[in-house]
Amino acid sequence: EKGGYKHFMIKEIYEEPEAIESALVGRIKLEGPFLKEIEEFNLETINKIKVVACGTSYHAALVFKYFLEKHINIDVEVDVASEFRYRNVYIDDNTAVIAISQSGETADTLESVRVVKRKGAKVIAITNVVGSTITRESDATIYMNAGPEIGVAATKTYINQLVVLYLLGMSILKKRNVWSENLEKDLNFLKNSPDIFRKMFETIDLKELISYYKNFNHFMYIGRGINYPTALEGALKLKEISYINATAYPAGELKHGPIALLDPTFPVFAIAPKDSLYEKMKSNIEESKARKARIIAITTEGNKEISSIADDVIFVPESPEDMYPLVIAPIIQIFAYFVADMKGYDPDKPRNLAKSVTVE
Ligand code: F6R
Repeated sequence: EKGGYKHFMIKEIYEEPEAIESALVGRIKLEGPFLKEIEEFNLETINKIKVVACGTSYHAALVFKYFLEKHINIDVEVDVASEFRYRNVYIDDNTAVIAISQSGETADTLESVRVVKRKGAKVIAITNVVGSTITRESDATIYMNAGPEIGVAATKTYINQLVVLYLLGMSILKKRNVWSENLEKDLNFLKNSPDIFRKMFETIDLKELISYYKNFNHFMYIGRGINYPTALEGALKLKEISYINATAYPAGELKHGPIALLDPTFPVFAIAPKDSLYEKMKSNIEESKARKARIIAITTEGNKEISSIADDVIFVPESPEDMYPLVIAPIIQIFAYFVADMKGYDPDKPRNLAKSVTVE
């Protein structure tokens, strides 16, 4: 059932190209992105979106916030469900709520949906599991169509959350006549991403790098802008299956405290694609290097200068700026997987964790 793979987790990572294809079926028309599920929502007029989720799904929500806010003046507020449900969240007629849950059964996310529904909000659910509780409690459901995910760590479902959220964001932008050449490029990139992933999987080989880094007890993930959530997700993946103390910060926050941790025993994993914040990331990498931390940098193919500041470099294909979280995600997943596997842990069944968290 693992199709020749050692674990479900790595099988599910390699299934990402097909998972994306399933998420895109029927959702890109000649005129652009189209999600029939949201046709009845007044997404033309809202000016606030609240997104609620936990764990990896929360990281996907953060990417959505950076993406949408870049292109339109809509406030997108993102919160973890276990906080959101106990806050006094203000809902008015101009607010839409999106709840993201791969399993559709996460207790805190479900309770958040109930809380906002009592306040009169309309809720769009994004889930992978057909008929799950969240689909019954929400006003509309957008399915991720990733196929069953058995490994406890979310992998292909994170990818499909991103795909569906990009499509949702683009649909909102299209409906509001906010469209641009850049968005057209983003959409094209989405369409081509299954092949881009396939090519990446054929060439990527991190084994040597990982056999070295698996011996460290700490990791600092840093990123900026739309790739700050990528850093959070990288650290979460690593800690949950390899039990390494991985922490993530927006790169600009390093100097406000966390940089005190850095030394040769504390490597920095920098998410540094060639985007508009690259120069800022570079400074943060240099600051980390000055503390003698080892640096692994993920950057864009063709970026030659980075090897003079980073100890190890992983390249991803050049992509539209908005889309880097999508192409980088498999890399941080593969990294975490092989670290766990080489340390002798079973990444499919990490200690203390369950696939769906139905208790608070
Ligand atoms: C991490 C992971 C968890 C889930 C979280 C939310 O790999 O799988 O952090 O993302 O428990 O689960 P869902 O999306 O089912 O609500």
